[in-house]
Amino acid sequence: MNQIALSPLAARRSASLAGRVRVPGDKSISHRALILGALTVGETRILGLLEGEDVINTAKAMRLLGASVTRQGPGSWLVHGVGVGGFAAPAAPLDCGNSGTCCRLMLGAVAGCPIVATFDGDASLRQRPMQRVLDPLSRIGARAVAVAEGGRLPLTLAGARDPIPIVYEPPVASAQLKSAVLLAGLAAPGETTIIEAEATRDHTERMLAHFGAEIRVEAHAAHGRRITLTGQPELAPAALSVPADPSSAAFPLVAALITPGSDIVLEGVMMNPLRTGLLATLAEMGARIEVLDARNEGGEDVADLRVRSSDLRGVEVPPTRAPSMIDEYPILAVAAAFAAGETRMRGLKELRVKESDRLAATADMLRVNRAEVEIVGDDLVVAGSGGAGGKGRPDGGGEVATHMDHRIAISALVMGLGAEAPVAVDDAAFIATSFPGFVDLMRRLGADM
Ligand code: S3P
Repeated sequence: MNQIALSPLAARRSASLAGRVRVPGDKSISHRALILGALTVGETRILGLLEGEDVINTAKAMRLLGASVTRQGPGSWLVHGVGVGGFAAPAAPLDCGNSGTCCRLMLGAVAGCPIVATFDGDASLRQRPMQRVLDPLSRIGARAVAVAEGGRLPLTLAGARDPIPIVYEPPVASAQLKSAVLLAGLAAPGETTIIEAEATRDHTERMLAHFGAEIRVEAHAAHGRRITLTGQPELAPAALSVPADPSSAAFPLVAALITPGSDIVLEGVMMNPLRTGLLATLAEMGARIEVLDARNEGGEDVADLRVRSSDLRGVEVPPTRAPSMIDEYPILAVAAAFAAGETRMRGLKELRVKESDRLAATADMLRVNRAEVEIVGDDLVVAGSGGAGGKGRPDGGGEVATHMDHRIAISALVMGLGAEAPVAVDDAAFIATSFPGFVDLMRRLGADM
């Protein structure tokens, strides 16, 4: 693995932010577009693909598995797929870099093919749990022939010769886990069923339907879904256009909320209801966010969001909301540090196994900038400095350890735009995994970075 030199960066209190911007394409949809394109016979044209390092790793992996993947221009890509079950044995290990989505989805896709592949990643990804995916994949008939201790990377998977359709109830709310089972189930005869207690992002299901697979989604219990996929479809190529990533839009959005006098518009943001937990929470906190020109583009709801600086108040965020905003807690914690009163974010156990222990990293980010924060069990509790009696804004002045985690790096820089003193990060390099061009985009809005 390459040793990348550290690249520190700082953000300081900025004048009001203004302007219209579009953040890059959605990361989840971009990974899935490449993988499902590779499982389709024929040519899939993708527009607006996120060209972050995570997605580029997926593109390289698809090539190693036999698909042809070419870049035609900025965000414009062509995939010539090999069909369901058609992957070839890769001549080299599949390097997933920093990306859990790349790794877990590809484990599923490979599990349905009679090939052997080795998966690896960077120091962050090598810490993350893979056993949760290997368990259902072994029921489908794949075999992990080598795995690092604790069910981690590097690992070698032998895909199933005769994949078996299963009924599976994931023990954790994870779209990556669900998607791995669906992708493996594609190659199995008959119906693969997943019963989710909590609905998670449904981009795999939507895209499978878009490519012509037979897939049924029904409500299950209070917050869940029952998903039934008929295996061995002939996936037909269909053009895809990737909407702007709501998880990336969250950063300029919160920056505008905490920077006095700001008024910005974020264009074409995906509004899939399984991704809008942050918007619901910020609305409860009193954020001035207007949804403009709501429309449907390529099977997903999108809208332009007008965001103005706002006096926020603390709220309690229920654990059931976590799947719809799982990647947004670090930036919500930043907003909470500027709010009046306490924000309690409940049920964040899954944050401990993200690109970093994101629960601890988020608390540390606030703490080094002298914001009041506590972890209580699996809850994150932030006492904001806004409102009467508060000091107005957090002190800032800290240097944040990013722990190879792009969302910690970006959240810390956003905090610096509103805090009293500048906020620095030890390493901004990982921002490129999900949000290439972040610093330029923020400078265009008037941010001082
Ligand atoms: C993702 C699912 C989430 C999320 C990740 C992207 C996806 O992970 O944190 O950034 O594209 O399916 P989990 O499914 O593990 O919660």
